Amino acid sequence: MGKLMALILLGAGLALVGERFLTLRERMNAYREVESVESQNCHLIEGIENGSEDIDILPSGLAFISNGLKYPGMPDLAPDEPGRIFLMDLNEQNPRVQELNIGDGFDKASFNPHGMSTFIDKDQTVYLYVVNHPHMDSTVEIFKFEEQQRSLVYLKTIKHELLKRARMNASREVKSVELPNCKLIKGIETGAEDLEILPNGLAFISSGLRYPGVKSFEPDKPGKILLMDLNKEDPTVLELKMTGSNFDASSFNPHGISTFTDEDNTVYLLVVSHPDVKSTVELFKFQEEEKSLLHLKTIKHELLPNLNDLVAVGREHFYATNDHYFVDQYMRSWELYLGLAWSNVVYYSPDDVRVVASGFDFANGISMSPDRKYVYIAELLAHKIHVYEKHANWTLTPLKSLDCDTLVDNISVDPVTGDLWVGCHPNGMKIFSYDPENPPGSEPSEEHQLKDEREFRVNISPT
Ligand SMILES: *[C@@H]1O[C@H](CO)[C@@H](O)[C@H](O)[C@H]1NC(C)=O
Ligand SMILES: *[C@@H]1O[C@H](CO)[C@@H](O)[C@H](O)[C@H]1NC(C)=O
Ligand SMILES: *[C@@H]1O[C@H](CO)[C@@H](O)[C@H](O)[C@H]1NC(C)=O
Ligand SMILES: *[C@@H]1O[C@H](CO)[C@@H](O)[C@H](O)[C@H]1NC(C)=O
Repeated sequence: MGKLMALILLGAGLALVGERFLTLRERMNAYREVESVESQNCHLIEGIENGSEDIDILPSGLAFISNGLKYPGMPDLAPDEPGRIFLMDLNEQNPRVQELNIGDGFDKASFNPHGMSTFIDKDQTVYLYVVNHPHMDSTVEIFKFEEQQRSLVYLKTIKHELLKRARMNASREVKSVELPNCKLIKGIETGAEDLEILPNGLAFISSGLRYPGVKSFEPDKPGKILLMDLNKEDPTVLELKMTGSNFDASSFNPHGISTFTDEDNTVYLLVVSHPDVKSTVELFKFQEEEKSLLHLKTIKHELLPNLNDLVAVGREHFYATNDHYFVDQYMRSWELYLGLAWSNVVYYSPDDVRVVASGFDFANGISMSPDRKYVYIAELLAHKIHVYEKHANWTLTPLKSLDCDTLVDNISVDPVTGDLWVGCHPNGMKIFSYDPENPPGSEPSEEHQLKDEREFRVNISPT
């Protein structure tokens, strides 16, 4: 009854769910509406109205039911109650559910049960294995079932890095660091999502992102693009006016941004936006004199369903990250939760759109080396930065990956030294469950230097 067994059981369980999703993905009936069917032999069992997650039936006809799974973004009918395990005797004429008592030594308040499996020993003892997510971690809890007392005796908690949930690094606490050269810039208190600096020192800042599951400070206001002149002694921000007859500023929800400078020195700003939770790329011409952005075009494409960031390689040409595969909010939660790693990178141009890299566990920031030979992709939940070689035909081939031990978000590249400046989230759960008493805090940027295409030197220094 060792760890191996539990691993195998858990693996089998996850594989089963994964396989169901794969089948689902192939058939892609995610948009199908299901008609109600009257099933004669079905009736509602009182006591599990709030949903059940898994069921395991013993040969004797006793069934265990796990209830009350919680995960950010997933509908939860009883958010304030911990999860429970119910027992149901299927031999009864009118089976009812009964909550199983859980014995001492187990933290019931954080019980968040997911998949389950039973194991019957030679001496007929029944063990119940439960995948648990206390505080969004992943563990397997082993209980002994006491049939007479209708209770579960807690035996053991299994945790292992192979059981993945370290992705969120949810238990890390961040220490405050005093940064003497840092000062608060007025006017961007509501948060900045991305930053792009022109060679002349003008910086564009995307501000006001509303993103499902992430705290928004001004949920009722549209997002904006701010301009900041870094040449000034005391830089301030200025909101850029947005003009253009076909542009709806009220639903503007800017995420990643990138600039492209034409041969005639015209600066174009490409912005990922999420009007009504959709994904578009808005193309603007920067008018420095007027301090405004002239909207030229909205780009939408079926290969660009869940955009996060982009890097421009032409006026209407870019690489972009899709941070999820699914569009549906419920499926997105499952995708994230199961770590399916179906997120990808797409090359877009007006006459050629294709996936150029895939298999990411939340592809996030994307950027390019100053010589434009390499593309950098931040994989948020795998804590990695990937380096790809860019070819003349726009395909990308993987060169190397850098382990960062933190959740990597947006990337900026120093145009002179080639250093990467990466926005990081040391504790991922704090992005998805914002607590004003314990905020994500100012997270140190980390500097990763690419010396040549063969060797990375990594300096982690708070800046
Ligand atoms: C379902 O959830 C509601 C809301 O939390 C709670 O009041 C109710 O007792 C729950 N029902 C059961 C059967 O657990
Ligand atoms: C999560 O954070 C801890 C520090 O609290 C660190 O030791 C650990 O390696 C991190 N885990 C992962 C998978 O990044
Ligand atoms: C990265 O994103 C964070 C917020 O998500 C933002 O505060 C920061 O300015 C960004 N940094 C860069 C280098 O884009
Ligand atoms: C693109 O270019 C690379 C490198 O020259 C080559 O290996 C690859 O086969 C090309 N792919 C396509 C689809 O043309």
